[in-house]
Amino acid sequence: MKPKIFVTRQIPKPAMDLLFLHFDVEFNKEDRVLTKKEIVKGVKGKDALLCLLTDSIDAEVLDAEPNLKMVSNYAVGFNNVDVKAATHHGILVTNTPGVLTDATADFAFTLLLAAARRVGEAERFVRKGKFKGWGPLHFLGQSTEDATLGIFGLGRIGREVARRAAQGFEMKILYHDVQRVPDFEKEFGAKFVDKETLLRESDFVSLHVPLNPNTHHLIGEKEFKLMKPTAVLVNTSRGPVVDEKALAQALQEKRIFAAGLDVYEREPVIEKALLKLENVVLAPHIASATVKSRTDMGLLAVNNLVSAFNGIAPDCLVNRKVLAKSRMKVT
Ligand code: GLV
Ligand code: GLV
Repeated sequence: MKPKIFVTRQIPKPAMDLLFLHFDVEFNKEDRVLTKKEIVKGVKGKDALLCLLTDSIDAEVLDAEPNLKMVSNYAVGFNNVDVKAATHHGILVTNTPGVLTDATADFAFTLLLAAARRVGEAERFVRKGKFKGWGPLHFLGQSTEDATLGIFGLGRIGREVARRAAQGFEMKILYHDVQRVPDFEKEFGAKFVDKETLLRESDFVSLHVPLNPNTHHLIGEKEFKLMKPTAVLVNTSRGPVVDEKALAQALQEKRIFAAGLDVYEREPVIEKALLKLENVVLAPHIASATVKSRTDMGLLAVNNLVSAFNGIAPDCLVNRKVLAKSRMKVT
């Protein structure tokens, strides 16, 4: 008998096909986020759950099925899963790191350049029929030449953004993280600095930290005051890392030059003031959205399940502590 899996929303077809090969699958046939009630109902009688970053997998969901053994999250971020409660119940939790690193780093750079060069504003201008010819003072933006990039969070994605900036654009790299990475400093001539120095000295600030209580509102009113008036902020991590109201105000008062955002504090709701501003590029959480990356995330999310149900602890296990008392035997 195949293990029973509940899938909260369809993921790319190669991953669904692999899932059907190994598991007895029940999935949400509509292209929408399920309600908490529907997820609770869905996990009843299942061995595992394959879910998305838009699903809140809290104690209520984890309590719904005493035999639930695993949560495979289709995302690198796993702030949507109550990992502590899962570990307590002996439920394995996995994510999908690595396969979206390049896509996300590319998109951080897309937003960086789009915000610096006012692409959103310029495009709206063209579409409104306002383009009457080239002008020496039209749409002047910020340059990457001799610029400094400040990176918060030097995980896989932060490093790939740094590589693009250092090797492609010859930018100077500053970074701040909970730990220093000497190899990285050597490879990119990057400098580890405190938060305040990074904010004061960077022309571009890009966020690549996971969301947790320590990074909630990492960037707020106080931080915007430290940044250069010519600075550009890029957020492809998680919305609540930035105080969105404070950001809207900083952009309105031109205390920073621009921002490029892929994530929001209360997704899919966006702070109203931001929607009216020209100096912010707004994307709908698509940093990992390439055909390759989303397919590979799906295959990895499914392979994490396949490994575990074959008794092998998946590489992407985020709660190693669970192995001591997990509901299924994995080593
Ligand atoms: C996307 O935001 C992810 O965490 O995979
Ligand atoms: C995620 O993959 C990260 O470590 O940045």
